Amino acid sequence: MYVCLCKGVTESQVNEAISQGCCNKSMIQDKLGLGSVCGSCIPETQILLDQSRYAQLEIDESILLGI
Ligand code: FES
Repeated sequence: MYVCLCKGVTESQVNEAISQGCCNKSMIQDKLGLGSVCGSCIPETQILLDQSRYAQLEIDESILLGI
């Protein structure tokens, strides 16, 4: 699924950038070039970042709780 139609950036590419250490919108924009035309992909990019952070928190919590 495309996140950024203007630049042809997919959700997989955004998630890969996040997994490679891009931890905020600016870093993802710099790496993939999304958001530089119409900007309508910025909210979806933020959602993917938030989902990644939430997933990491769940992992961290399960490690702390020994689940
Ligand atoms: S959809 Fe990403 S800049 Fe237009």
